[in-house]
Amino acid sequence: MWGMIATWRMAVEGLTEGANTLEKGGSAEEAIVKAISEVEDFPYYKSVGYGGLPNEEMEVELDAAYMNGTTLDFGAVGAVKDFKNPIKIARRLSVEKANNFLVGVGAEKFAHKEGFERKTMLTDRAKIHYKNRVHKLNQQENELTPYSGHDTVGMVALDQQGLMTAGTSTSGLFMKKPGRVGDSPVIGSGLYVDSEIGGATATGLGEDLMKGMVSYEIVSFMREGFSPQEACEKAVAKLDQKLKERRGKAGDLSVVAMDKKGNYGVASNIEGFSFAVVTETKAPKVYIVDKIKEGKCHYEKATQEWLENYMATRTAPLEEEWKK
Ligand code: GLY
Repeated sequence: MWGMIATWRMAVEGLTEGANTLEKGGSAEEAIVKAISEVEDFPYYKSVGYGGLPNEEMEVELDAAYMNGTTLDFGAVGAVKDFKNPIKIARRLSVEKANNFLVGVGAEKFAHKEGFERKTMLTDRAKIHYKNRVHKLNQQENELTPYSGHDTVGMVALDQQGLMTAGTSTSGLFMKKPGRVGDSPVIGSGLYVDSEIGGATATGLGEDLMKGMVSYEIVSFMREGFSPQEACEKAVAKLDQKLKERRGKAGDLSVVAMDKKGNYGVASNIEGFSFAVVTETKAPKVYIVDKIKEGKCHYEKATQEWLENYMATRTAPLEEEWKK
């Protein structure tokens, strides 16, 4: 059996590429790096890689992580600027004996020394988003606050040899403080994988996801015998409830998981979370998830109309409201 699951609709093209690798007997490591790089390279996804939205100083700072579920190798970068594929740097760091998680200038020095490709990651489109946002906030005499979409791409892959891997990549919150790092590169929070059990990855408000170590929690539930679907539902319901009880509210929490047999699960505390999945017996498809209700999460295949509307919205021309 082989398979791959990922957060959000934006992952499906990469996931399809990854599936080609897995189908031919390629490794889960190669598949996940290829799949996430594809998402990082697509300029219209405004929360990952090239075209990702900038921080409050109009600089794109990227977080990414990679984990091998057999060796437990883990590598990550935080707040890294102007490198084409942060996921590749994270994978490279995962095989270092120490210094596996580097941030900011240190991560950039490492990437430069290792010959990773540099690229200006701020696009003209992202600049328009930024200037429109500042303009709007100035008009409302408001403070800069983070944009409410945090669409990290997170993936879990299983290959025919039984190796499982997980990876994440994100530009984090729009208008974040320089140096802010979310859950995505944090082992146990943004991702966790153990080839003897399964893997999980998360997207949503990093500050809240980290409070529950949600990916590790899901893998722990699977270890106890819960299915990936039950494990995802339990982890999201538990963290959502705890945050509401202790803090009055919970940020967006969405997760996907796959076990070592290719069974998968998903849960979310918001409406409209989407995910993509492919297995040996199922072609790559996108699904839309309903908000968790009484501990259960339902999902349905995305309609053609939804899929077309998604791409049309992402690529539509942007008005320069700040010039008006
Ligand atoms: N979950 C992505 C972030 O908070 O940065």
